[in-house]
Amino acid sequence: MSTASVLVIDLLIAVLAAAGWLAGGAAAATGHRRAALGLGLAALVATLARAVTVVALARAGWWFAAEKVVIAGPLSLAAIVVAVARRTPAALLFAGYATTAGLLVTVLHGYPVTPGVALLAVAGVAVATGITRRSRPTLVVAALALVAATGFAIRPAPTVHHHSYSAAEVGTPTKRFTLTAATTTVEVDGHDVAAWAFNGQVPGPALVATVGDVLEVTLRNQDIGQGVTLHWHGYDVPNAMDGVPGVTQAAVLPGQEFVYRFRADRPGTYWYHTHEASDEGVRMGLYGTLVVHPAPVTGLDVTVPVHTLSGRPLPTFSQASAVAGTPVRLRLINTDNTTHRYALAETAFLVAAIDGRDLQGPTPLSRTAVLVPAGGRYDLTFTAPAGPVGLFVDGRPVWATGHVAAPPSGWPALDPLIYGTPAPAPWSGYDKSFTLVLDRGLDLHGLLPRYAHTVNGAADPDIPPEIVHLGDRVKFTIVNRSAVVHPWHLHGHHVLVLSRNGKPSTGSPLWLDSFDVRPGDVWEVTFLADNPGMWANHCHNLSHAAAGMMLHLMYE
Ligand code: C2O
Ligand code: CU
Repeated sequence: MSTASVLVIDLLIAVLAAAGWLAGGAAAATGHRRAALGLGLAALVATLARAVTVVALARAGWWFAAEKVVIAGPLSLAAIVVAVARRTPAALLFAGYATTAGLLVTVLHGYPVTPGVALLAVAGVAVATGITRRSRPTLVVAALALVAATGFAIRPAPTVHHHSYSAAEVGTPTKRFTLTAATTTVEVDGHDVAAWAFNGQVPGPALVATVGDVLEVTLRNQDIGQGVTLHWHGYDVPNAMDGVPGVTQAAVLPGQEFVYRFRADRPGTYWYHTHEASDEGVRMGLYGTLVVHPAPVTGLDVTVPVHTLSGRPLPTFSQASAVAGTPVRLRLINTDNTTHRYALAETAFLVAAIDGRDLQGPTPLSRTAVLVPAGGRYDLTFTAPAGPVGLFVDGRPVWATGHVAAPPSGWPALDPLIYGTPAPAPWSGYDKSFTLVLDRGLDLHGLLPRYAHTVNGAADPDIPPEIVHLGDRVKFTIVNRSAVVHPWHLHGHHVLVLSRNGKPSTGSPLWLDSFDVRPGDVWEVTFLADNPGMWANHCHNLSHAAAGMMLHLMYE
């Protein structure tokens, strides 16, 4: 059974156990003895059953089970001992409070276990018990402990101090673009859709360059109230050009401008988007594509950025003609918050590159779908056959060279970890290791409490930064304890995938900047700290990033 399913089952059993004890206590208190006995027995079974699920989770990784073992475990044990030994209404209620406290720790906090949270759970149980037994002294002591524990548990993390990095000298620009952000209305399939757009179009202008070009992009903001920036997603530019407001620059407010300059020193498929109000801004249309060619293009080179604009899918269908024998490259880009499934029908193809990095030894695929994570890019290449070929996204045709029927949705999806030929690891030791446990949790640090998307139990801006030195070989272990996919994205660097769920990557070296960490997944990746600065490191479901799932990597 997958770790994700065990997480769900364990949660269900925990809810049943807590509800059973509480209901049993209530039944006993109101004189329904038989009901109390039945509920108490059911709760007992559920509480004991958790031993199985919690052990399974601990075996999948300590991050999945820590608080269940350290906090919920002893509380459950106390619940069972007290309830079985005393069998009074108060004892059953106590068992209910104890198991509920353990459950709340999982749902509201998760990993890691901290003394503050443990104390909070125990104090909560004591307060509830004091109230039940109408015992003043217990209540006073417990309430004091609760207040102290609350302060302890929500103590803010040290705040990040900012350095500023000036832009490197890049030489005379060879390609100049101006992007003006403004509110507008665009037409999609005959419908008018309100949008925020660069130069009045969604996506914004396609930026195309050749390796060696120096790009100069002037960003102007006409009327986007929150401000805008340009982030070069996947392009590992110098920090000052990275476009993260409050970190590498100030947001460009209406009437202002900012000039980005960087050298296009690497080929590949990338995209750009605003990083100010990025969830709303990207959704509303402030994005475009960036393609850097290694050499002048021969053959057909098509960029397919997928996006959902007010519920309408982009791009709309386009038809091209390709003479048999023409080399074709399809650059698939996912600018949405969730994974898209692409299928190329009626031809064999190669996945030539992922996230702008060529794969080694890709082999021909056919009747195989590719899953492109939010923010991710896949380059598919093939030689045009005599008959028509068609590209589909989630079953919808987006590009074709003639009439092609939609392929069945049951095609298997490519697993890039076992595709292509391997190469020896560039290094094996690590100077720094960080673990990122992704979950949901209660965040009490803002003006209003929120149920945030968390990393190691904290939400932006309270997640401690990861501090590295120039030249460090860094390892990240990324664990998803939650029930939703988190497409992980590190700015300024590409990471090499080491393993997923304990299985080493055995295909081509995979250097990614956006990868789906699915529920229950554990990914190990490594990168070289070779690009000094302060870098965002976040979930590219941008609504999750806005809800707390964002931290920073900084160089010291
Ligand atoms: Cu494409 Cu920080 O984002
Ligand atoms: Cu996420």
